[in-house]
Amino acid sequence: MNIHVKSGVATTATTDLLVCLEYEQDKTWTKAVRPLDQKLGGKLSALRKSGEFSGKPNQPVLLHVNGELAAKRVLLVGLGSREAVSLERIRQAMGTAARRARQVKAKGLACVMPDVPKTAGHLDEVAQAIVEGVILGDYSFTDYRTDQSDDSKLLQSCTLLAPTSASQSAVKEGAKRGQILGEATSFVRNLCNHPANVMKPSRIVAEARAIAREFKVKLRVLDRPHMKKLGMGGLLGVAQGSIEPPHFIILDYSGGPRTQKPVVLVGKTVTFDSGGISLKPSENMEHMKADMTGGAEVLAAIRSASRLRLPLNVIGLLPVTENMPGGRATKPGDILTMLSGKTVEVQNTDAEGRLILADGLAYATRFKPACVIDVATLTGAAIVALGQFAIGMLGNDDALKADLRQAGNDSGERVWEMPLWDEYFEQLKSDVADMRNIGGRGGGMITAAMFLSKFIGDHPWVHLDIASTDWSGAERACISKGPTGTGTRLLIQYLVNRANGA
Ligand code: BES
Ligand code: MN
Ligand code: ZN
Repeated sequence: MNIHVKSGVATTATTDLLVCLEYEQDKTWTKAVRPLDQKLGGKLSALRKSGEFSGKPNQPVLLHVNGELAAKRVLLVGLGSREAVSLERIRQAMGTAARRARQVKAKGLACVMPDVPKTAGHLDEVAQAIVEGVILGDYSFTDYRTDQSDDSKLLQSCTLLAPTSASQSAVKEGAKRGQILGEATSFVRNLCNHPANVMKPSRIVAEARAIAREFKVKLRVLDRPHMKKLGMGGLLGVAQGSIEPPHFIILDYSGGPRTQKPVVLVGKTVTFDSGGISLKPSENMEHMKADMTGGAEVLAAIRSASRLRLPLNVIGLLPVTENMPGGRATKPGDILTMLSGKTVEVQNTDAEGRLILADGLAYATRFKPACVIDVATLTGAAIVALGQFAIGMLGNDDALKADLRQAGNDSGERVWEMPLWDEYFEQLKSDVADMRNIGGRGGGMITAAMFLSKFIGDHPWVHLDIASTDWSGAERACISKGPTGTGTRLLIQYLVNRANGA
């Protein structure tokens, strides 16, 4: 999608759809919208008066224009009350607008910059949220449809109408950021939507290679012999049952000074999780093509860090494999020796994510990291505990957790902390090895994180369990059905904030 920023009055903006975000309960229109109502002979006010437009969150009301404006249509979208407005409200209103735009087959839309109190967001942040909302709402995945009918056509352009020419540069800066973050989520959704017979471990490597080439990022890929030499028993153990060879991807974006310690991101990349010998039930097993979301998000974060030219050093690590049953597969009771040297009794081969992440985290410590963040569709227990609207967060460093909480609130991809107390390790004790890979009935999200904590040592670390938010059964303003890509903008916003020293 092409993103433009222009200044000037909205009455003369030529567009298929002119979007105006307006508050609930306001008696008059915001400053930029008032002249539209005047030119339209009070038609907008009539919609308010009749109650057809009340301004409640995400309420869209469409009006055809008969030459009174340069725009073909006006779309009012409610923002809710002025007191409760937030970047997320704006994002969702624009997601709603993008969906409505597609229904009327608009090729482009223009958005009047809403009047937002500074406490809710500065102009650049508002512009970012607008563009993110449009890209997120406009997303669809039709690669495998042979009938490419018109209604599947995407919006081609989005124009932001800056209030003054002096404000243009702030709007432009925010819009650029919004485009990069929005496109990052689309990139992740695409990777997750591809079926597992396409998005195989080798294809993930090809995606990493394309990023390295296009965005000037260093890439190394470890193959099975190399992993054996290093002793990556976790990743090798999970990969054993599959005919697809595993890969360990290392992406290195150096935007900061040489001496700056890197942020290391580790993403669970299981291109299909059948459960292995501890086979999953078949209902919804197809969702497990998205068990590589964490890795896709790390790819997207590295790609975006480079596009944004962030002055940071960021390393991305992806342990990549399928989890399949097979004649060579790891069996319940098998003991693996991990990269860290610790031994693990595999009591359930479906708890595979923690096995590959354990090697990823142990590898991360080699970089003397400033901090490590892992992101993984790790446990069904995260869904039970949090439902769809919060990412599970556990970790050993309060400052890092606070930064992620902030990035979560900024991006609308919010995290909720769970405890990581030593007592929980009791559930992971094994009779024959240093630990086992499952923790029994209670606190499944916590015991999974507890397992991971044994491989990171004292390095500042946060684990994000995105199993809760990963898949949506419903279309929402900014969320498409199926893989959501949630967590992508959280990670990138964290990096943006870190680069700003916030
Ligand atoms: N990939 C799954 C977790 C998952 C479940 C993600 C549902 C998204 C939706 C993970 O590998 C898994 O199978 N976890 C097991 C762990 C259990 C065996 C301790 C689970 O949560 O059931
Ligand atoms: Mn599993
Ligand atoms: Zn899994």
